[in-house]
Amino acid sequence: MQIQDLLFSQGFGTRRVCAGLVQQGLVQVNGQVLSEPAQPVQPQGLRYSVQGVQWLFQERAYLMLHKPAGYECSRKPGAWPSIYTLLPSPLRQRGGGAAAGVQAVGRLDQDTTGLLLLSDDGKFIHRMTSPRHHVPKVYEIVARHPVDARQLDRLLAGVVLEDHDQPVRAADCMLTGSHTLRLTLTEGKYHQVKRMVAAVGNRVEQLHRSRMGDLSLPADLAVGQWRWLEPGDLRALDGVKDPTEDPTGQ
Ligand code: URA
Repeated sequence: MQIQDLLFSQGFGTRRVCAGLVQQGLVQVNGQVLSEPAQPVQPQGLRYSVQGVQWLFQERAYLMLHKPAGYECSRKPGAWPSIYTLLPSPLRQRGGGAAAGVQAVGRLDQDTTGLLLLSDDGKFIHRMTSPRHHVPKVYEIVARHPVDARQLDRLLAGVVLEDHDQPVRAADCMLTGSHTLRLTLTEGKYHQVKRMVAAVGNRVEQLHRSRMGDLSLPADLAVGQWRWLEPGDLRALDGVKDPTEDPTGQ
């Protein structure tokens, strides 16, 4: 692959912009400045830098963001800034075309914090968000009123939300303090946690997603920071399989 095409695939701009970056001496591979846009490179495992910033070639992008409160998970937000402004521009542009860049794997409300995955792999996004895959999502809740055993029982037994015929229930639910609880959902309906807690007579004051599948938000990932998912992170999510998929991969 030519270096200009590799830069294009990784979101550094149009082919012309990418050729220009090379011609201006802004791209380095193995500590060497490249000057020829058509220079062939081996993409797999390639470490390169653009304007002094180090990158590793990624065929597909998988990352996690510690979502802060006050950000919307939309590309065209209303009142609040978009979470996409927290990512460097190559991640927002990679792949080119209309649906370019990484997409949030499901959405968190503007005031919700915590683990948000992003990817440009449509199959991965589908596997993580499709209701039939039952990916467990763990939420830490601060409630306005004390939480009692009856409320927990009702969350586990199922509550009816106004726009759903079938009750929705927590896959797991436990008290973590007088006003705090940890609730696990395997589906993701609109404002589901807030509406479930309201349905049992309480109110969510703060909501934080701490885990998806077996992947926890790392304690050292600061609010507003992102990082690539590592192979171990993807394995932690890999328990999330389509039950109808042929295990042989055929
Ligand atoms: N449920 C909610 O109510 N809000 C979120 O952001 C996520 C789950």
